[in-house]
Amino acid sequence: MTALDPVLKDLWHPVMMSAALTGAPAAIEVLGEKVVLFRSSDGVHALKDLCIHRGVPLSLGKVRGDEIVCAYHGWTYNGCGTCTRIPSLPQGTAIPSKARAVAYACKETYGIIWVCVGNPVTEMPEIGLRGPNPDFAQVYMGPYEISAAAPRVVENFLDVSHLMYVHEGMLGDSEYSEINDYRVHEADGALRTDIIEVYQPDPDGRGVGVQSLYTYEVYHPVSVSLSKQIAGSDDIFHLYLLVLPKNETSSVAFMLMERNYAKDEPDEIFISFQDILLEQDRLIVENQKPELLPLDLQAELHLKCDRLAIAYRKMLKESGVTFGTA
Ligand code: FES
Ligand code: CO
Repeated sequence: MTALDPVLKDLWHPVMMSAALTGAPAAIEVLGEKVVLFRSSDGVHALKDLCIHRGVPLSLGKVRGDEIVCAYHGWTYNGCGTCTRIPSLPQGTAIPSKARAVAYACKETYGIIWVCVGNPVTEMPEIGLRGPNPDFAQVYMGPYEISAAAPRVVENFLDVSHLMYVHEGMLGDSEYSEINDYRVHEADGALRTDIIEVYQPDPDGRGVGVQSLYTYEVYHPVSVSLSKQIAGSDDIFHLYLLVLPKNETSSVAFMLMERNYAKDEPDEIFISFQDILLEQDRLIVENQKPELLPLDLQAELHLKCDRLAIAYRKMLKESGVTFGTA
């Protein structure tokens, strides 16, 4: 068994939209750990997806009352992982104390279920440096399954000079590809860029071309955001990207978009636009070599406009992230 990543194991990872977990247990994967999620009357629970009796995934079982029942011989576990019933034991026989499932920290907030497979560094999961703004219109996008390492997915989101090529006609125009010089600032372990200006033919799917002012923030290794302000207006758009590292080469991207304009427009406009962008990025990130993000800065070529990617790779290296990196 390989050890869990020393940094990522203690973070809260988004694993599922709250609305998607109903009656049946769900099998998920966090940092290569197979986990079963289930919902009881007192909330959501995450256990190692393995019955200690004969190694059957608990996710094949059923939720009964507030407990999960293994599909093979009916051993029943509560949300803390304690085995409360072994149907084949004669009545009055004590349940062996070793009959337990490993329980993980599990919380539900912002409409998302979160799991931490280590010791959570924060009491509650957080989104970005400030969290969602209640005065903005919010819309979730995804989750998107991506066959790529989480750091590759994050770095793609932080890459400003791909907008004019991968998303030409939507987020950029190859006739306007130059990137202004910008700096990356570090404060409290987070990274933040200066403003980067990009001409955008159609920045959000509504078909209106504008000059956009971008700033990016890296909150932790797999949680980042960008803000776009339309030049000469007060229209602001935030996009949070939260990436679940399922295993070293597959990830799930959750996105929350919020805006202080066009609040009455239907969410579907923004979701279907993001779905297209995601497919365009997928083609790139699922084919990058090496699959794992190289943290040795000599390994690939970098330009000034890649400052944020360089800062991101340094941050991963200095904080000791190994999962999904090379
Ligand atoms: Fe789960 Fe036997 S394997 S009850
Ligand atoms: Co992209």
